[in-house]
Amino acid sequence: MEFHILTVFPEMFASPLQASVLQRAQVRGLLRVYLHNIRDFTRDRHRVTDDYAYGGGPGMIMKPGPIVSGIQAVQERFGRAYVILLSPQGILLTQRLVKNLAQQERLLLICGRYGGVDARVQAYVDAEVSIGDYVLTGGELPALVVLDAVGRLLPNVLGDEHSVTEDSLFHGLLQGPVYTRPEEFAGMRVPAILRSGNHAAIAVWRRRQALLTTLRRRPELLPQAPLTPQDLATLQALQTQEALQEQATEHTS
Ligand code: ADE
Repeated sequence: MEFHILTVFPEMFASPLQASVLQRAQVRGLLRVYLHNIRDFTRDRHRVTDDYAYGGGPGMIMKPGPIVSGIQAVQERFGRAYVILLSPQGILLTQRLVKNLAQQERLLLICGRYGGVDARVQAYVDAEVSIGDYVLTGGELPALVVLDAVGRLLPNVLGDEHSVTEDSLFHGLLQGPVYTRPEEFAGMRVPAILRSGNHAAIAVWRRRQALLTTLRRRPELLPQAPLTPQDLATLQALQTQEALQEQATEHTS
């Protein structure tokens, strides 16, 4: 898969792309990342990429010309790309959206800066995406988030040691607790079931823990998760258990 990044700070991408999984994926030819400096698409002597906002107000606005020239140049040279503008006004990035983006052959990520991007750029954009309800100094870190989340889903990027189908949110639930050695740490023991060697029982336990973690921390995810009749029964039992526990703590406090 090909990633193209349009940015005024290409240097922000160097170290994240030169380490770990993303680096290995590039070396193995599974992922290609091209950095394009928006400044290279300016036509004036001072290579200006931003200007004052019409109507006044603080913050500089990114000019539409250089960004749109960049989008067009990339598509002319490399072929059609799915174009994403990173901004706090975008639709929220979720694992579901990440899975969809991983189906694309070529993504072009535009990193906004300053007080925003001229609204006319939207006519050249397929999706405006936000990585969360907070404001960053620019779209570079969000672009890296998209690259990482999408890149790790591509075939063969993660080794056999990790299956993405076990991820938090892959099946709409959070992952439950996980453990490694030592068996006892600071007086806390690894649950006996995980050392039992009974793989069927372990799978049932893990599913139950995923349901419990999601129920406690992100209950709003449950209505959208694909749950089996067995899951629904487990969930009902867990809800009752949680309610009873809450009552018990109310009585003792
Ligand atoms: N640019 C600034 N903040 C952002 C956010 N939360 N998501 C995407 N792009 C951004």
